[in-house]
Amino acid sequence: MIQVENLNKTFKTYKRGTGLAGAIKGIFKREIIEKHAVKNMNFTIQDGEMVGYIGANGAGKSTTIKMMSGILVPTSGKCEINGVIPYLNRKENAKQIGVVFGQRTQLWWDLPLVESFGILKEIYEVSDKDYKVRYEFMNDLLGLKDFISSPVRTLSLGQRMRADLAASLIHNPKILYLDEPTIGLDIMVKASMLKGIRDINNEFKTTVILTTHDLQDIEELCKRIIIIDQGEKIYDGSIKEIKNTYGYMKNISVDLASLDGAGGLDLNTVLQKNTTDLQVEICGASLSVSYNKNKIQSGDILSAIIKHTPILDVTIKETAIEEIVKNIYSGKTGLGKQL
Ligand SMILES: Nc1ncnc2c1ncn2[C@@H]1O[C@H](COP(=O)(O)OP(=O)(O)OP(=O)(O)O)[C@@H](O)[C@H]1O
Ligand SMILES: [Mg+2]
Repeated sequence: MIQVENLNKTFKTYKRGTGLAGAIKGIFKREIIEKHAVKNMNFTIQDGEMVGYIGANGAGKSTTIKMMSGILVPTSGKCEINGVIPYLNRKENAKQIGVVFGQRTQLWWDLPLVESFGILKEIYEVSDKDYKVRYEFMNDLLGLKDFISSPVRTLSLGQRMRADLAASLIHNPKILYLDEPTIGLDIMVKASMLKGIRDINNEFKTTVILTTHDLQDIEELCKRIIIIDQGEKIYDGSIKEIKNTYGYMKNISVDLASLDGAGGLDLNTVLQKNTTDLQVEICGASLSVSYNKNKIQSGDILSAIIKHTPILDVTIKETAIEEIVKNIYSGKTGLGKQL
C-alpha cells in the first residue's frame, strides 16, 4: 500500500542576474526563489491498483514520483511505500519498486541491452532461474529479442522504451512508477507498451502509477485518476464518475451530401438553444455539433439537419477525458481548488 500524507516539496533556487554585472552582483547578494512544487498531497493507493496521475506541465507529477522513489526528500509530510519510507531507506525501497522515466533511460548507454539486464540482475540479486522466467515473459510481451544484443545508444525510441520497461521489472517489483512511458511512441509501439503494462498488472498484481499527457493511455489502463494542479490535488476518483459529472457535452459529426449543404442552417435558432449548450462548426461538407446531452436529444439535432440538407454519414462521440480535464484547468467545471 502507498500512503502519502501532507507531502510537500519546495525547491529553492537562486535568481541569476543577466550579463556579467548580474553575475557579479549575484556573488554578493543572491535572491532566493522558492517553488512549492507539491503542496499538502494526500492519497492512498491499494495493492494492485492502476492509478493515473495527471497534471499539466510543471504540476508536480515527477516531483511526487521522485519522492515516492526515494530520489528526492520531502520538505515536510511523509510517504510510506509498503511500510518503507523511501527517502530514509532507499535500498529497501528500491527492491520493491520499478521506475520508468520516459524522458530518460536508466540503461547503460554503451552496453548491449543484455549486459544492462545482467547488471540489474546482479544489483537486485535475482536468481538465474527467476531471471530466465522473467526474461522470457517480457520477451513475449515486449519483443526484446530483435535488439537484445544492440548497444542501448543504437536503439530506436520505441525499442529503448520497451527495454526500459523490461529493465524496471527484472526484480519483479510490487510497485511500478511510470513517468510518461509512452512519450513520442508510434501507435503500434504504444499499444504494445500499454498491453505490456496491463498484462504485468494482471499477472503479478503489480501496483501501477502512471503519469502521462496522453489521457487515452490513462483511459485504457486506469479506473482511478488523481488530477493535480500547481502541486495540489484537485480530483481523486473514478474516470467514470468524472465523465458522468462533467462529460455532459457530446459531439455529433455529420458528413453532408453537398459542399454548401450547411448554407443558411442556423441550428441554434431552429432548436432554440444558446451557444453554451449547442455549438456548431462547419468544415467543408462536414458539420461538427457539440451539445449538452442533458438538454438536447441527438435525434432533434439530426432531424433538423436532415430537414435542411441530405446527409451521408453520422458519428456521435462522448466527451473525451481530455476535454474534461482541459475544462477543469480553465475553470469551466467549477471543480477547481475546492476538492
Ligand atoms: N530540481 C528542481 N529544482 C528547482 N525546481 C524544480 C526542480 N524540479 C522540479 N522543479 C519545479 O517544480 C515544479 C514541478 O515540476 P515537475 O517536474 O514535478 O512537474 P511535472 O508535473 O512532472 O511536469 P511535466 O509534465 O512537464 O513533466 C516545476 O515548476 C519545476 O520547474
Ligand atoms: Mg514530469
